[in-house]
Amino acid sequence: METTFSILYLLIISLFLLIIPPNHCFPQLKHDYYRKSCPNIESIVHHAVKKKLKQTSVTAPATLRLFFHDCFVHGCDASVMIASPNGNAEKDAPDDLSLAGDGFDTVIRAKAAVDSVSRCKNKVSCADILALATRDVILLSGGPNYKVELGRRDGRISRKASVKGHLPHAHFNYNQLKALFATHGLSQVDLIALSGAHTIGFSHCRQFSKRIYNYNSQSSIDPTLHQGYAKELQLKCPRHVDPRVAVALDPTTPLAFDNAFYKNLQQGKGLLSSDQALLATKKSKRVVNAFASNNTLFERLFVAAITKLGRLGVKTGNHGEIRRDCRFPN
Ligand code: HEM
Ligand SMILES: *[C@@H]1O[C@H](CO)[C@@H](O)[C@H](O)[C@H]1NC(C)=O
Repeated sequence: METTFSILYLLIISLFLLIIPPNHCFPQLKHDYYRKSCPNIESIVHHAVKKKLKQTSVTAPATLRLFFHDCFVHGCDASVMIASPNGNAEKDAPDDLSLAGDGFDTVIRAKAAVDSVSRCKNKVSCADILALATRDVILLSGGPNYKVELGRRDGRISRKASVKGHLPHAHFNYNQLKALFATHGLSQVDLIALSGAHTIGFSHCRQFSKRIYNYNSQSSIDPTLHQGYAKELQLKCPRHVDPRVAVALDPTTPLAFDNAFYKNLQQGKGLLSSDQALLATKKSKRVVNAFASNNTLFERLFVAAITKLGRLGVKTGNHGEIRRDCRFPN
């Protein structure tokens, strides 16, 4: 009797072990999600992204930022790509107006390439194409390679009003950044690693003009800013500058995905006040210093963090849809 019981008990335990996946994988998504429906998805997207990047280098930062803004608002469901006839979609919100068109275009082109293969047509979501394109622009800019989890479905809802309060601003202090990322289950290390995305791309002058002209409502320069760098910024962004002028977020290697961003911070060359704020606490400073001195460490923790970012609010199963045109719900 007792042995039957313990055998049963063992059976139940082993069943549970089979059912509960090990905690390093996220049950809703899979690396080989399209193995049967579109086995060449990775190379199709990679080829399309590479071609687009050759035409314009803005492709890399534009795509990476688009992925971030998509995931932080209503989950990684490509809702940021939806166009609204009356200007009421996510992309019309003030925080999204500066998203560069080349990011959207990258996904649209990759989607066209995917759909030109008959077995793949209308099988792959825009959300997954954006996640793959993001990995590809990072890799093609000299950053780490990593496996992308797939199986996200596209959202049908995209509202201008839902963006407010969900994206960080350049004037945020460390506590505000930490708190916003924490609402998504992202740690301080995730925040600091993901901010390393500012190793590529540009910022418009208005995002930091206070730091170089009007710090604390006085005509002075932010004391945390490297003074020579501040002078250079004043030349690039004169007081009444054309609002379209933009400056590299990483003044040393603006096109390379590397840890120069953290080395810049150590010298007071973080362009946005939110970047420089990553040195605010003892703990955050230790992480910045570690990333500045070890690119491998930065790459590892960046990959872990962007993988977590890619899991936010994903729609799977019979939620959402596979959008036929990334700009419109079916
Ligand atoms: C930590 C809080 C963050 C703040 C406050 C922030 C803020 C900003 C701002 C103000 C700009 C300049 C926009 C413009 O003037 O056009 C920018 C650009 C950019 N951000 Fe962030 N960002 C943050 C985190 C992230 C994350 C997590 C990623 C991606 C993982 C990211 C990727 C980018 C990229 C690639 C650009 C350059 C875009 C381009 O050149 O088109 N940012 N960010
Ligand atoms: C850099 O970080 C990697 C990854 O954590 C580690 O294996 C390596 O030992 C570190 N290198 C140095 C010089 O500390």
